[in-house]
Amino acid sequence: MKAFLLDPAVAQYILDHSTTPDSLLADLAAETRAATGDRAGMQISPDQGRFLTMITQLLAPEVAVEVGTFTGYSSLCIARGLSGGHLHCFDVSEEWTSIARRYWEQAGVADRITLTLGPAAETLGSFGQPIDLAFIDADKPSYPAYYELVMNRLRPGGLVLVDNTLWSGRVLDQDSKDTTTRLMREFNDLVMSDPRVTVVMLPIADGLTMIRKN
Ligand SMILES: C[S@@+](CC[C@H](N)C(=O)[O-])C[C@H]1O[C@@H](n2cnc3c(N)ncnc32)[C@H](O)[C@@H]1O
Repeated sequence: MKAFLLDPAVAQYILDHSTTPDSLLADLAAETRAATGDRAGMQISPDQGRFLTMITQLLAPEVAVEVGTFTGYSSLCIARGLSGGHLHCFDVSEEWTSIARRYWEQAGVADRITLTLGPAAETLGSFGQPIDLAFIDADKPSYPAYYELVMNRLRPGGLVLVDNTLWSGRVLDQDSKDTTTRLMREFNDLVMSDPRVTVVMLPIADGLTMIRKN
């Protein structure tokens, strides 16, 4: 659990009282650590994964979009929550998403996922379908572009989920002046000033912002 905000005992209690990931997700997390080393920290946490599955089940989207697939943990969680809809994944890495493809096959959800490789600012720009649910978890400098591209296609009542919006708490530490922290602050302010949406920021993992188009 990436719970830097919580007392470790509280974080453990939450984990102990939330449905645990199954063996396939546990295997994927282990393979990601073995294959990518420190990069494995980019993977969403198990509690976030459970949350993504539940939100997808509740919304029952026809069209879901993920920007930033890596080795497939979040996409697997979204795809497992679908009931007849389709998930469109966008990433640049053939190497990392080849792991994702294997796990989609093993989970029996490969037929409900389409992966497009390439810079998402371009590939998402040519995506033509109305979107019901989007998860943004890719390169931080492009968050405003991804947000706008998704918003252009999001149906009213649709939901955008954005990861890492607390950036380990650095967004509220005025001594943190690095580029990514500044970008995340600017992104959070941009969303808050957008009259098209209603926003809830959740302290799950590294901060998960829920943005509903009005
Ligand atoms: C934080 S990871 C995604 C983690 C993933 N959601 C998971 O749960 O495992 C970020 C991903 O964004 C991808 N990425 C980086 N720059 C990109 C770009 N310009 N267009 C599309 N994907 C990009 C990386 O290849 C990486 O797989």
